[in-house]
Amino acid sequence: MDLRAIHHDEVDSTSERAFEALRLGTARNGDTHLAASQSAGRGRLGRRWHSAPGEGLYLSVVLLPPPPGPTQPAALTMAAGLAVLEVARGFGLRGARLKWPNDVLVHGAKLAGILVESRGYDRAAPHFVVGVGLNVAQREFPAELLAERPATSLALEGAAPPLAAVEAALLGSLGRRLAQGLRDDPRLCVEFEAALELLGAEVAVHCGDERHLGRLAGIDLVDGVTIDTGAGARSFDLAWVSAVERAGS
Ligand code: BTN
Repeated sequence: MDLRAIHHDEVDSTSERAFEALRLGTARNGDTHLAASQSAGRGRLGRRWHSAPGEGLYLSVVLLPPPPGPTQPAALTMAAGLAVLEVARGFGLRGARLKWPNDVLVHGAKLAGILVESRGYDRAAPHFVVGVGLNVAQREFPAELLAERPATSLALEGAAPPLAAVEAALLGSLGRRLAQGLRDDPRLCVEFEAALELLGAEVAVHCGDERHLGRLAGIDLVDGVTIDTGAGARSFDLAWVSAVERAGS
Protein backbone atom coordinates (compact mmCIF):
# COMPACT_ATOMS: atom_id res chain seq x y z
CA MET A 1 0.00 0.00 0.00
CA ASP A 2 1.11 3.57 -0.64
CA LEU A 3 1.54 5.74 2.43
CA ARG A 4 0.64 9.42 2.03
CA ALA A 5 2.97 11.69 4.02
CA ILE A 6 1.40 14.58 5.96
CA HIS A 7 4.18 16.73 7.42
CA HIS A 8 3.71 18.73 10.60
CA ASP A 9 6.15 20.97 12.40
CA GLU A 10 5.90 20.46 16.18
CA VAL A 11 2.87 18.46 17.40
CA ASP A 12 1.82 16.93 20.70
CA SER A 13 2.00 13.42 19.24
CA THR A 14 1.71 12.24 15.64
CA SER A 15 -0.62 9.50 16.90
CA GLU A 16 -2.88 12.19 18.44
CA ARG A 17 -2.96 13.98 15.06
CA ALA A 18 -3.99 10.70 13.42
CA PHE A 19 -6.72 10.09 16.03
CA GLU A 20 -7.96 13.65 15.63
CA ALA A 21 -8.32 13.14 11.86
CA LEU A 22 -10.20 9.90 12.56
CA ARG A 23 -12.48 11.73 14.98
CA LEU A 24 -13.17 14.46 12.41
CA GLY A 25 -13.83 11.87 9.69
CA THR A 26 -11.07 13.29 7.45
CA ALA A 27 -8.60 10.39 7.84
CA ARG A 28 -7.81 8.22 4.83
CA ASN A 29 -6.27 4.77 4.76
CA GLY A 30 -2.49 5.18 4.50
CA ASP A 31 -2.34 8.78 5.78
CA THR A 32 0.97 9.11 7.58
CA HIS A 33 1.44 11.96 10.03
CA LEU A 34 5.08 12.95 10.44
CA ALA A 35 6.40 15.65 12.74
CA ALA A 36 9.70 17.46 13.13
CA SER A 37 9.24 17.11 16.91
CA GLN A 38 6.67 16.01 19.49
CA SER A 39 5.95 17.69 22.81
CA ALA A 40 4.02 14.67 24.15
CA GLY A 41 5.40 11.71 22.20
CA ARG A 42 4.42 8.56 24.02
CA GLY A 43 5.48 4.96 24.17
CA ARG A 44 4.09 1.81 25.67
CA LEU A 45 3.17 1.54 29.34
CA GLY A 46 2.72 5.31 29.65
CA ARG A 47 6.37 6.03 28.88
CA ARG A 48 7.46 9.23 27.15
CA TRP A 49 9.06 9.09 23.68
CA HIS A 50 11.93 11.55 23.52
CA SER A 51 11.23 13.53 20.30
CA ALA A 52 13.74 16.35 19.84
CA PRO A 53 13.53 18.43 16.63
CA GLY A 54 15.19 16.94 13.58
CA GLU A 55 16.81 14.06 15.48
CA GLY A 56 14.44 11.21 14.82
CA LEU A 57 11.58 10.07 12.69
CA TYR A 58 8.25 10.37 14.46
CA LEU A 59 5.33 9.09 12.44
CA SER A 60 1.87 7.55 12.73
CA VAL A 61 0.08 5.67 9.97
CA VAL A 62 -3.72 5.51 9.78
CA LEU A 63 -5.07 2.14 8.69
CA LEU A 64 -8.71 1.74 7.70
CA PRO A 65 -8.98 -1.86 6.50
CA PRO A 66 -12.20 -3.32 5.16
CA PRO A 67 -14.32 -5.02 7.87
CA PRO A 68 -13.74 -7.11 9.90
CA GLY A 69 -10.04 -6.11 9.75
CA PRO A 70 -7.04 -8.35 10.37
CA THR A 71 -7.65 -11.42 12.53
CA GLN A 72 -4.54 -10.61 14.57
CA PRO A 73 -3.81 -6.90 15.17
CA ALA A 74 -0.50 -8.08 16.70
CA ALA A 75 0.50 -8.77 13.08
CA LEU A 76 0.64 -4.99 12.54
CA THR A 77 3.21 -4.63 15.33
CA MET A 78 5.24 -7.44 13.76
CA ALA A 79 4.92 -5.82 10.33
CA ALA A 80 6.10 -2.44 11.57
CA GLY A 81 8.99 -4.06 13.46
CA LEU A 82 10.13 -5.88 10.34
CA ALA A 83 9.89 -2.66 8.31
CA VAL A 84 12.11 -0.75 10.75
CA LEU A 85 14.54 -3.66 10.94
CA GLU A 86 14.86 -3.73 7.14
CA VAL A 87 15.53 0.01 7.06
CA ALA A 88 18.12 -0.18 9.87
CA ARG A 89 19.93 -3.04 8.16
CA GLY A 90 19.65 -1.22 4.83
CA PHE A 91 21.63 1.64 6.38
CA GLY A 92 24.30 -0.81 7.46
CA LEU A 93 23.23 -1.73 11.01
CA ARG A 94 23.93 -5.45 10.76
CA GLY A 95 23.54 -5.84 14.54
CA ALA A 96 19.91 -4.61 14.58
CA ARG A 97 17.50 -7.12 16.15
CA LEU A 98 13.80 -7.38 16.96
CA LYS A 99 12.60 -7.90 20.50
CA TRP A 100 9.02 -8.95 21.12
CA PRO A 101 6.69 -7.16 20.80
CA ASN A 102 7.78 -3.78 19.58
CA ASP A 103 11.44 -2.99 20.07
CA VAL A 104 14.23 -2.68 17.55
CA LEU A 105 17.51 -2.99 19.39
CA VAL A 106 21.18 -2.74 18.50
CA HIS A 107 23.41 -4.62 20.96
CA GLY A 108 20.68 -4.28 23.59
CA ALA A 109 20.13 -0.52 23.10
CA LYS A 110 16.80 0.74 21.79
CA LEU A 111 16.87 2.14 18.27
CA ALA A 112 13.13 2.31 17.59
CA GLY A 113 9.76 1.67 19.17
CA ILE A 114 6.33 0.85 17.77
CA LEU A 115 2.94 1.56 19.27
CA VAL A 116 -0.20 0.20 17.56
CA GLU A 117 -3.41 1.66 18.97
CA SER A 118 -7.14 1.87 18.33
CA ARG A 119 -9.84 3.67 20.27
CA GLY A 120 -13.38 2.37 20.58
CA TYR A 121 -12.67 -0.43 18.09
CA ASP A 122 -15.66 -1.25 15.89
CA ARG A 123 -15.37 -4.46 13.83
CA ALA A 124 -17.80 -2.93 11.32
CA ALA A 125 -15.40 -0.01 10.73
CA PRO A 126 -11.93 -1.09 11.85
CA HIS A 127 -9.16 1.43 12.39
CA PHE A 128 -5.58 1.38 13.67
CA VAL A 129 -2.92 3.98 14.27
CA VAL A 130 0.59 2.59 13.90
CA GLY A 131 3.11 4.89 15.60
CA VAL A 132 6.83 4.51 14.94
CA GLY A 133 9.68 6.39 16.55
CA LEU A 134 13.14 5.81 15.04
CA ASN A 135 16.27 7.39 16.47
CA VAL A 136 18.30 8.81 13.60
CA ALA A 137 20.69 11.68 14.37
CA GLN A 138 20.91 11.73 18.19
CA ARG A 139 24.46 11.80 19.52
CA GLU A 140 23.26 11.75 23.11
CA PHE A 141 20.05 11.10 25.03
CA PRO A 142 18.60 12.70 28.17
CA ALA A 143 19.81 11.09 31.41
CA GLU A 144 16.23 10.34 32.51
CA LEU A 145 15.72 8.22 29.39
CA LEU A 146 19.03 6.39 29.80
CA ALA A 147 18.08 5.67 33.41
CA GLU A 148 15.17 3.58 32.03
CA ARG A 149 17.14 1.72 29.36
CA PRO A 150 20.07 2.10 26.95
CA ALA A 151 19.24 3.92 23.72
CA THR A 152 21.00 4.34 20.40
CA SER A 153 20.54 5.99 17.01
CA LEU A 154 21.62 5.42 13.42
CA ALA A 155 24.26 8.14 13.95
CA LEU A 156 25.65 6.50 17.10
CA GLU A 157 25.87 3.23 15.18
CA GLY A 158 27.97 4.89 12.48
CA ALA A 159 25.31 5.64 9.85
CA ALA A 160 24.57 9.26 8.99
CA PRO A 161 21.81 9.28 6.36
CA PRO A 162 19.74 12.46 5.94
CA LEU A 163 16.34 12.24 7.69
CA ALA A 164 14.61 12.51 4.30
CA ALA A 165 16.38 9.36 3.07
CA VAL A 166 15.37 7.45 6.20
CA GLU A 167 11.81 8.70 5.84
CA ALA A 168 11.59 7.57 2.21
CA ALA A 169 13.00 4.13 3.02
CA LEU A 170 10.72 3.68 6.03
CA LEU A 171 7.55 4.76 4.20
CA GLY A 172 8.29 2.26 1.42
CA SER A 173 9.05 -0.57 3.79
CA LEU A 174 6.12 0.17 6.11
CA GLY A 175 3.71 0.31 3.18
CA ARG A 176 4.74 -3.17 2.03
CA ARG A 177 4.84 -4.72 5.49
CA LEU A 178 1.60 -3.22 6.80
CA ALA A 179 -0.21 -4.48 3.69
CA GLN A 180 1.12 -7.94 4.57
CA GLY A 181 -0.17 -7.58 8.15
CA LEU A 182 -3.60 -6.42 6.98
CA ARG A 183 -4.11 -9.40 4.70
CA ASP A 184 -3.09 -11.92 7.41
CA ASP A 185 -0.17 -13.08 5.29
CA PRO A 186 1.30 -16.13 7.08
CA ARG A 187 4.78 -15.32 5.70
CA LEU A 188 4.88 -12.31 8.00
CA CYS A 189 5.09 -14.59 11.04
CA VAL A 190 7.72 -16.76 9.38
CA GLU A 191 9.89 -13.71 8.75
CA PHE A 192 9.22 -12.28 12.21
CA GLU A 193 10.09 -15.62 13.79
CA ALA A 194 13.37 -15.65 11.86
CA ALA A 195 14.15 -12.05 12.83
CA LEU A 196 13.59 -12.79 16.54
CA GLU A 197 16.38 -15.40 16.26
CA LEU A 198 14.84 -17.52 19.03
CA LEU A 199 13.42 -20.47 17.10
CA GLY A 200 14.44 -23.67 18.90
CA ALA A 201 15.87 -21.73 21.86
CA GLU A 202 14.75 -22.07 25.49
CA VAL A 203 12.47 -19.08 26.03
CA ALA A 204 10.20 -17.51 28.61
CA VAL A 205 6.78 -16.49 27.28
CA HIS A 206 5.07 -13.82 29.40
CA CYS A 207 1.26 -13.64 29.41
CA GLY A 208 -0.07 -11.18 31.97
CA ASP A 209 1.39 -12.29 35.32
CA GLU A 210 2.27 -15.75 34.05
CA ARG A 211 5.61 -16.89 32.71
CA HIS A 212 5.91 -20.12 30.74
CA LEU A 213 9.18 -21.84 29.91
CA GLY A 214 9.88 -24.04 26.92
CA ARG A 215 11.60 -24.38 23.58
CA LEU A 216 10.19 -21.95 20.98
CA ALA A 217 8.48 -24.13 18.34
CA GLY A 218 6.88 -21.44 16.21
CA ILE A 219 4.85 -18.25 15.86
CA ASP A 220 1.82 -18.04 13.62
CA LEU A 221 -1.37 -16.07 13.21
CA VAL A 222 -3.65 -19.01 14.04
CA ASP A 223 -2.03 -20.69 17.05
CA GLY A 224 0.03 -17.75 18.29
CA VAL A 225 3.30 -18.49 20.11
CA THR A 226 3.92 -22.21 20.55
CA ILE A 227 6.50 -23.66 22.92
CA ASP A 228 7.50 -27.23 23.59
CA THR A 229 7.42 -27.52 27.36
CA GLY A 230 8.84 -31.03 27.51
CA ALA A 231 5.41 -32.19 28.70
CA GLY A 232 3.82 -31.27 25.36
CA ALA A 233 3.23 -28.23 23.19
CA ARG A 234 1.47 -25.11 24.52
CA SER A 235 0.24 -22.20 22.45
CA PHE A 236 -0.48 -18.64 23.54
CA ASP A 237 -2.65 -16.14 21.66
CA LEU A 238 -0.54 -13.34 20.13
CA ALA A 239 -2.80 -10.73 21.71
CA TRP A 240 -1.93 -11.95 25.23
CA VAL A 241 1.81 -12.42 24.89
CA SER A 242 3.65 -9.44 26.38
CA ALA A 243 7.21 -10.80 25.99
CA VAL A 244 9.14 -13.69 24.46
CA GLU A 245 12.74 -13.74 25.60
CA ARG A 246 15.63 -16.11 25.93
CA ALA A 247 15.18 -18.00 29.19
CA GLY A 248 17.42 -16.64 31.92
CA SER A 249 17.91 -13.26 30.18
C1 BTN B 1 7.57 2.21 22.57
O1 BTN B 1 8.62 1.67 22.29
O2 BTN B 1 7.18 2.26 23.74
C2 BTN B 1 6.74 2.81 21.48
C3 BTN B 1 7.24 4.17 21.06
C4 BTN B 1 6.42 4.80 19.95
C5 BTN B 1 6.83 6.22 19.67
C6 BTN B 1 6.17 6.77 18.45
S1 BTN B 1 6.86 8.31 17.96
C7 BTN B 1 5.58 8.53 16.80
C8 BTN B 1 4.31 8.08 17.47
N1 BTN B 1 3.73 9.16 18.25
C9 BTN B 1 3.75 8.92 19.55
O3 BTN B 1 3.32 9.68 20.44
N2 BTN B 1 4.29 7.71 19.79
C10 BTN B 1 4.67 7.04 18.55
